[in-house]
Amino acid sequence: MAIYPAKRLRRLRYNPIVRDLIRETILHKSDLIYPLFVRHGNNIKNEIKSMPGVYQFSIDKLVDECKELVELGIPAIILFGIPEHKDEHGSEAYSPDGIIQQAVRAIKAEVKDLLVITDVCLCEYTSHGHCGVLDGENILNDETVSLLAKEAVTHAEAGADMIAPSDMMDGRVVSIRKALDYKGFQHIPIMSYAVKYASGFYGPFREAAESTPSFGDRRSHQMDIANTNEAIREAESDIEEGADIIMVKPAGAYLDVIHRVKEKFGMPTAAYQVSGEYSMIKAAGRLGWIDEHRVIEESLIAIKRAGADMILTYFAKEAAKMIDSRK
Ligand code: PBG
Repeated sequence: MAIYPAKRLRRLRYNPIVRDLIRETILHKSDLIYPLFVRHGNNIKNEIKSMPGVYQFSIDKLVDECKELVELGIPAIILFGIPEHKDEHGSEAYSPDGIIQQAVRAIKAEVKDLLVITDVCLCEYTSHGHCGVLDGENILNDETVSLLAKEAVTHAEAGADMIAPSDMMDGRVVSIRKALDYKGFQHIPIMSYAVKYASGFYGPFREAAESTPSFGDRRSHQMDIANTNEAIREAESDIEEGADIIMVKPAGAYLDVIHRVKEKFGMPTAAYQVSGEYSMIKAAGRLGWIDEHRVIEESLIAIKRAGADMILTYFAKEAAKMIDSRK
């Protein structure tokens, strides 16, 4: 192997065309999944205070937004719903006429060529804001799992293309798989939020989805931020239970986890660049403290470089435009 002065790593960095030739990681539009929030009503497009450029849409406006995404070349969305009424069991989550079920039907009727993924959880729908059915302050795992399976089936019946359980209950992937298969949805993939940490980075999402827990936190089911061996165990059990795509969330502060999970299992791997990651970049960009576009690109490349095949990101529209302007 050559050493200096024969070896000069700068040799391949002088010419931009050579830099392009040797680039190892390239972001494509086909990597992007755009999260969207939908609520009841008409003609609503409410900006989320802590997430400039991100909105809660009523279904009519959501459909317009989806058409714009297709124009931009964004291939997929993931939907989050804000119900009309919340109750102890989060019943709108699994109602055939819930907000997500209505939204999916409307999108499928009017928008072609857009993959519709639905988030499956109860926290947006429960009056207490927790991800499941409570007994006192304890979330009942198995009772919650059967409601999640019901929720997933109603999403598939409405026309969802992919189901993404984000609740972190034990055994939900196998239960959802069985419920979908029983109803004839063997072909619908499950993207499981397999490795989801109890993270402070979800703060702005909870404003967007109106899902802040009324007491306590989510540490009894989401993972301890300090652990990665446990991440492997989480991913492994979701794969055994039948997950088709596994997700790590958040993304930017957990690149080591994305890398380990991808190396270990070689599964299609998604990473969720979450609300707080978005808000921090937006805020610093607005203050003029960082070059926003540059940092958006860098954050997404880093996630892909770590091993993610696809990225759920609120920057999808900006990223698609940046990709278009790339020579
Ligand atoms: C739960 C869910 C959450 C997010 C996605 N699905 C919130 C939570 O676990 O509290 C967070 C996404 C983000 O912060 O952008 N349904």
